[in-house]
Amino acid sequence: MKISLVSADAAELNVDALAIPIATGQRLSGAALELDRAMGGVLSEMVVNAEFRGRIHEVLPIPAQGKIGPRRVILYGLGAPHDLDGQRMRSAHHELVRASRTWGYKRMAVLRGDPLGMDSLKAVVEGCVMGTFERRSRQTGAAPERREIDEVVLAGFGDGREREVVAAQENGEATNRAREWQNAPPNELTPDALAQEATRIAQRHNMEIEVLGPSELKAGGYNLLLGVGSGSAKPPRLIRVRHHGNHAEGSSAKAGEKTLALIGKGITFDSGGISLKEPDKMSRMKDDMSGAAAVLSAIDVIASRKLPLDVMAVVAAAENMPGPSAQRPGDVVVSADGKTVEVVNTDAEGRLVLADALWYARENGATHVLDLATLTGAMELALGDLYAGIFSNDDEWREQIVAAGEASGDHAWPWPMHPRYRRYVDSAFADIKNSSDLRQGSPVLAAEFLKEFAGEGPWAHADIAGPAFLERPRGDYLSQRGGTGYGVRLIVELASRLAA
Ligand code: BES
Ligand code: MN
Ligand code: ZN
Repeated sequence: MKISLVSADAAELNVDALAIPIATGQRLSGAALELDRAMGGVLSEMVVNAEFRGRIHEVLPIPAQGKIGPRRVILYGLGAPHDLDGQRMRSAHHELVRASRTWGYKRMAVLRGDPLGMDSLKAVVEGCVMGTFERRSRQTGAAPERREIDEVVLAGFGDGREREVVAAQENGEATNRAREWQNAPPNELTPDALAQEATRIAQRHNMEIEVLGPSELKAGGYNLLLGVGSGSAKPPRLIRVRHHGNHAEGSSAKAGEKTLALIGKGITFDSGGISLKEPDKMSRMKDDMSGAAAVLSAIDVIASRKLPLDVMAVVAAAENMPGPSAQRPGDVVVSADGKTVEVVNTDAEGRLVLADALWYARENGATHVLDLATLTGAMELALGDLYAGIFSNDDEWREQIVAAGEASGDHAWPWPMHPRYRRYVDSAFADIKNSSDLRQGSPVLAAEFLKEFAGEGPWAHADIAGPAFLERPRGDYLSQRGGTGYGVRLIVELASRLAA
């Protein structure tokens, strides 16, 4: 879908539909009022009669009957004007695009109405692009209910803002791409397939890439990742994609000191291993690579935007399966950085693969680390489908991540860490254990485990188990069940702030 800015008079545009935003309690004004006059007052009639109220997700098409250039006018609602934010803006435009796709419109225009401030451009574009997302159906012979829109033109948003449009469009498209990977069935999206996706991204931007398979992992001592993958016929992969931005034009000395590492949990299927999950808790476990999807999609954007900052995406990819060669509860494994780990529960596998990935990232020069992982079911119970929980060894770093989350719409909330939680992972047989029979504080326990492997410098962990994957639509711009692409926009926002 092409998105462009136009300065032409909206009434002259040759489009299938011209969309006009209206908030509740609001009347038509400005360009919208002129269009209303040209159409003989039908628009204001709908509003005055309260046949159209401006409620969020309200979308009403009206035939223009040849009185203006556009074939139709669409009134669409924004909800109450006083607390209109990016979240609602994305929702309204997501809904506008989805409705227009059911009606088969090919060329659309969106008029910037009164309630859409100039700074709304980003959310408008992101919402429109997310409205094009369709779960790739593997249903044979199913006719698509919605068609594709070729072009959206934005009228009245001012001149010279093309770069903002491109950036927001990339955000939306990268989010959609992460969602596709999350939704892909686990027999297709294996660790090797994830590595191939990473390779495609690296090649597109001429980025450095390293993929470690079983023999390299063995040589490097990545036994935690190997252990998790050992029950599967699909061997694990440790993937690193690197964007060199420090010496790019315009890079500041401040940014030059930093290398941001984004680490994604890439369990392509989590059966629990020998500590097997119950069937109804297992069916969604193809989503256990959501962290990996986010970091790969985000570095794609970071590279195409040529951000003046060094960034690496690291993915620890494995399939957690039971079998004759699977690891057992009770196994003691030596991690890449030499610590002995007692595996008391093979279903607490995410922290194991991340531990080796953390060491690998530091080995490769990471100064600032953020990992994203669908790590604990308890995090979803605690924060539901909207917020991720953030843990860190550094207050400032945690605050930066929470702030980037709020600004991007990928909401994140701080969680505590404390040395006195360390006893949760004290092991009688090794340096540390990966789980506990105490059934409390499991998201914190997992974070305390990771912290032991986080090395020197700021590290943060985002437990995204809640917002990464929806069992039911959330009623906003995520109106389809499945992957949400959580984290992509948070990461891009964070990296942009670090590069500035
Ligand atoms: N991938 C799961 C966490 C998860 C569960 C994410 C439900 C989303 C929804 C993780 O590997 C896991 O199994 N965690 C266990 C840890 C436990 C065995 C200590 C959990 O949280 O139950
Ligand atoms: Mn698990
Ligand atoms: Zn898992």
